[in-house]
Amino acid sequence: MKIFRTRAELREFVASEKKAGRSIGLVPTMGFLHAGHFALIDMACTLADTVIVSVFVNPTQFGPNEDLDKYPRSFEADCRNSEAHGAVAVFAPTPETMYDRDFSVWVSEEKLSKVLCGKTRPIHFRGVCTVVAKLFHLAQPDVACFGQKDAQQALIIQKMVRDLDFPVRIVVVPIVREHDGLALSSRNKYLSAGERAAAPVIHRVLTAIAEALRQHGMAASSTLLEAGKLELEKAGGVIDYLEMRDADTLDMADSSARKILLAAAVKFGTTRLIDNEIVVPASQTESSQTNKR
Ligand code: PAF
Repeated sequence: MKIFRTRAELREFVASEKKAGRSIGLVPTMGFLHAGHFALIDMACTLADTVIVSVFVNPTQFGPNEDLDKYPRSFEADCRNSEAHGAVAVFAPTPETMYDRDFSVWVSEEKLSKVLCGKTRPIHFRGVCTVVAKLFHLAQPDVACFGQKDAQQALIIQKMVRDLDFPVRIVVVPIVREHDGLALSSRNKYLSAGERAAAPVIHRVLTAIAEALRQHGMAASSTLLEAGKLELEKAGGVIDYLEMRDADTLDMADSSARKILLAAAVKFGTTRLIDNEIVVPASQTESSQTNKR
């Protein structure tokens, strides 16, 4: 396994791989890798000859009162696991290596970033877009893999790539879950035993609402959301949001929406968890016919 610490080392490696005619796959991560990340690496390995995993806890995407300092790290295991899943290199710069002291140019998406997580984390997606743009310039990937769990992030990266003409294919990989439905996340580690036992309620609520939308369409959407919120609160969750958004535009979903992103951010103790479901709701005509039968 090759480990690169500087931008120059990564650039040199990428240039030699390109010269040898090998395609590059990039899996950007903040480390503390779990099965969700392994699915991204596995996918990248099926799509590119040379897979690079970046391990970088990016300070610019954390707000002042967020968990940057305590973000979990496991660098040696990350290298071992990346290699076991077929990656050939890990890029692990320090913040000082990534950002020059007088760094002042940002990549900022201006629409999709304003809703859902962007409301409570106003600088988050600017930090994500900026670091991902830098990683794309350094690694020059043909393909890059991101997780569906961070659905808003995946949409914003796709928009950035389209709007700024990055020559990279973005592949979004399905959510990997624990046996009880909890979406894998590095932040699950922060949960106490009680919080961990309660947290799968997020997935239960999302799947119940998704099923109702698939069966009956959007007619009862606000009742479904209210019932979902009550259930989350009853389980001890503090809701940041539980919303139905158009899955492509992130506009608030209404009865005309064809594909819905049903998304939640819920705190258990001090740990904020996110999860989502993509739903194609029954059309109003179908659901009224079902009701008549
Ligand atoms: O999803 C993450 O882990 C991060 O937001 C990313 C894409 C690696 C950028 O720091």
